[in-house]
Amino acid sequence: MDISTVAIITGASRGLGHALALGLLQPGAQLITIARSHDAALEQQAASAGCLLQQVQADLSDPAAAGACAAKVMASLPQGAQRYLLINNAGTVAPIKQAADLTDANAIAAAFNLNVTSLIALSSAFLHATQGATDRRILNISSGAGRNPMPGWGVYCATKAAVDLYSQVVHAENHGVRIVSLAPGVIDTGMQKQIRSSDAASFPNVERFAQMHEEGQLATPAAVAQKILHYIAHDSFGSTVLDDIRNHA
Ligand SMILES: NC(=O)c1ccc[n+]([C@@H]2O[C@H](COP(=O)([O-])OP(=O)(O)OC[C@H]3O[C@@H](n4cnc5c(N)ncnc54)[C@H](OP(=O)(O)O)[C@@H]3O)[C@@H](O)[C@H]2O)c1
Repeated sequence: MDISTVAIITGASRGLGHALALGLLQPGAQLITIARSHDAALEQQAASAGCLLQQVQADLSDPAAAGACAAKVMASLPQGAQRYLLINNAGTVAPIKQAADLTDANAIAAAFNLNVTSLIALSSAFLHATQGATDRRILNISSGAGRNPMPGWGVYCATKAAVDLYSQVVHAENHGVRIVSLAPGVIDTGMQKQIRSSDAASFPNVERFAQMHEEGQLATPAAVAQKILHYIAHDSFGSTVLDDIRNHA
C-alpha cells in the first residue's frame, strides 16, 4: 500500500497531542505515537479510519530511554512515503517555583530532558532516517513562555526558549527539512489544570489563569489541533521558523 504521510507525535495520550493524533488518523497514513501511557481507544479509532498505528511507550524525561526510543522508532520508518512529519509535542510545565526555590536538580533535569533533550534526539534520528525524502517536516510545540518571561516558570521558559533557538539552528543548517517552533496559545488541557493549582507564592499569575478559565478564554484542544494540522499541511509551512498559531486564521 502507498503511504501518504508517516507521522510521529510525542505526548499523544492527552491534551493537544491527543487531539492532533486524532486528526492524523487518515486513510493510507501511518501514525506513531510516543508517550508513557497506552491509549486503547486510539487503536479502535485508527482501525476504523484505515490508518496504521503504532503506539510506543517511553518515558522521554529519561535520556537513555528517549535515545533508545528515537533510534528504534526512526529505524523502523517505512520507505517511500509522500510526507514524513515529526511533531515534538510532549512537555511539562513543572517545576513551578520562584528562582530561589528551584533547588531540586533532578526535577529541573527531568523537565529539560523531556522538553528539550528528547526533542533534539528525536529530531536528529528523524533527519537521518528520512534523508533523501522530498517532503520532511518537523513541528516543535513551543510556547509564548519561551518568548516572554513568566515569574515562577524559570525552567519552563528556559526550555521553550531552547526549543525556539534549536529550531532556528536546524533551519540554518539547511538539511532540506521544514521546521517550525510554534506557540499554540492557551489550551484547556491537564497542563492548564496543573497551572491553576499552583500556589500564588510560586506562581503570582495564578489568578489570571484561573480567570481566563472561568471566562471561557481557553481554546479547546480539538480547535487548536484543527488549526495546527491545516497549518502543517500548507505549502508555506516552514517559511516562518518561530511562529504562533494565533497569528493564523
Ligand atoms: N496547554 C497550554 O495552554 C499550552 C500552552 C503553550 C504551550 N503548550 C505546550 O503544548 C504541549 C502539549 O501540552 P498539553 O497542554 O497538551 O499538556 P498535557 O495535557 O499535560 O499533556 C502532556 C502530554 O505529554 C506526555 N508526557 C508528559 N510527560 C512525559 C514523559 N515523561 N514521557 C513521555 N511523554 C510525556 C503526556 O503523556 P503521558 O502522561 O502518557 O506520558 C501527555 O500526552 C506541551 O509542549 C506544552 O508545553 C501548552
